[in-house]
Amino acid sequence: MRRKLVAGNWKMHGSRLDNGPLVEAILGAPTHANVECLICPPFVYLAEIARELRGSTVRLGAQNLSAEAQGPYTGEISAAMLRDVGCDYVIVGHSERRTLFGEDDLLVARKFAAAQARGLTPILCVGEQLSEREADRTHEVIARQLDAVLDLTGIASLARAVIAYEPVWAIGTGHTASPAQAQDVHAFIRQRLAHRDAKIAASLQILYGGSVKKGNVRDLFAQSDVDGGLIGGASLKSEEFLSIMAAARG
Ligand code: PGA
Repeated sequence: MRRKLVAGNWKMHGSRLDNGPLVEAILGAPTHANVECLICPPFVYLAEIARELRGSTVRLGAQNLSAEAQGPYTGEISAAMLRDVGCDYVIVGHSERRTLFGEDDLLVARKFAAAQARGLTPILCVGEQLSEREADRTHEVIARQLDAVLDLTGIASLARAVIAYEPVWAIGTGHTASPAQAQDVHAFIRQRLAHRDAKIAASLQILYGGSVKKGNVRDLFAQSDVDGGLIGGASLKSEEFLSIMAAARG
């Protein structure tokens, strides 16, 4: 049985003042052997939050990283630095990075590889735009985004990765995918990977992201190929996030 993963993507939110109570609330939540909890704060808060999480089962992740290992790349953060301050995970290819910061499939694949080279588990985000869904191109877009990574790193790399299906039209909009829409794409991803390696596909965690809240999470998590969530807005409110964690516990 796959464990559920509940990941909070704080995006560019938070402050030292606000983070403390949120982290404390998450640390106070009941734990469960089959549920892993992860938070992804902005870079500048990682080291401090890593200290607060020490000794707990809550994991730490970053929201982005450089595709380069080291060097004259002003403003960039490497995988090794993220490991150094206590990260286990890193999000790559979030739709905001793809659309607002011009990250293409190849750059996302290089970031995925850079993360794994330093022992970070990448959370690879894939998802279609509304116009692509309306043109019935969802599977084609997801396949292209997945294949860019597979072509660079191979199917074996998926044994040390997580995928997050995030339909772009559902992110931060309040319009979540229906449980059936999410299940359809999750099953498509798993089947596509199963053609290359059935065992890796069967054990891969595939998260859903896009306007997940306490009110819709149970139906989403009840889908057979939904292994947790990548939670944006609702991860900033402790009561919402704790309810989502509770739903993952079943
Ligand atoms: P949202 O964001 O939950 O606020 O829609 C999800 C994400 O972008 O990871």
